[in-house]
Amino acid sequence: MDIRGRKIVVIGGSSGVGLAAVGQFARDGAEVMAVARNRERLASAVAPLAGAVRIRALDGGDRKALDALFAEIGPVDDVVLSLSGGEGAGEFRTLDLAALRRGFEAKFWAQVEAAQASVPALRAGGSLTFITSISARMANPGTAGLAAINGAIEAMIGALARELAPLRVNAVSPGVIETAWWDRVPAAWRDQVFAEQRRASPVGRLGQPQDVAHAIRFLIENPMMTGAILECDGGMRLL
Ligand SMILES: NC(=O)c1ccc[n+]([C@@H]2O[C@H](COP(=O)([O-])OP(=O)(O)OC[C@H]3O[C@@H](n4cnc5c(N)ncnc54)[C@H](OP(=O)(O)O)[C@@H]3O)[C@@H](O)[C@H]2O)c1
Repeated sequence: MDIRGRKIVVIGGSSGVGLAAVGQFARDGAEVMAVARNRERLASAVAPLAGAVRIRALDGGDRKALDALFAEIGPVDDVVLSLSGGEGAGEFRTLDLAALRRGFEAKFWAQVEAAQASVPALRAGGSLTFITSISARMANPGTAGLAAINGAIEAMIGALARELAPLRVNAVSPGVIETAWWDRVPAAWRDQVFAEQRRASPVGRLGQPQDVAHAIRFLIENPMMTGAILECDGGMRLL
């Protein structure tokens, strides 16, 4: 199976992992729509792709807008869910549970809403790819909240793969990836995490959004891949 000619929707497509996927897929001949909330940022992000990508500004948590989008553009071959917020990290004793709830709203619920809205539009044999995080299984102190958000999505993958077959359902679980996601945390903390990734990970480097896009592409193209959670973390989960 080749990505060429496939109709792919990337929600969270204006930055980081989603934008890298949009670029790779469009350059290799897929018909891509990039979705995110901020229209100006979307437009400038895909501008280098010279009109090869359609854009739509909407909130991935807005079910009415999602239903309208998929009713308008369906059928589609593949949907990638690369959206998230950033709240939910911190030591458990003092963790702000209101922030953790917002974190669930921005990632778990937004990805679930977008997934359910996309199913009627997805072609048989197409694919749905969630983006989770290695925090779900890394057992790192200070990440219990993030583990819960991402673990909740990962727990759904197997059941969805069976229930929605022949649609294929997978997740990519990234490690530390150099994207704008990290702009929202204090610079000193970000620098410490990046340095630790370079020092301690078996691959000795920081992840790049293109690395994760490549993993997403593998899941889209390989017809045997369903019910899988593909780690793209440079081996950090092994430490
Ligand atoms: N970067 C890492 O180290 C890392 C590690 C593990 C897992 N991940 C996961 O990887 C995925 C991609 O992260 P990233 O690093 O690429 O983040 P990013 O650079 O911050 O990009 C997030 C994208 O999602 C869009 N978005 C966010 N909320 C949205 C919503 N409610 N509706 C529609 N679009 C929305 C953003 O655009 P707008 O703001 O304009 O909507 C943007 O296009 C996320 O699920 C993240 O949790 C990242």
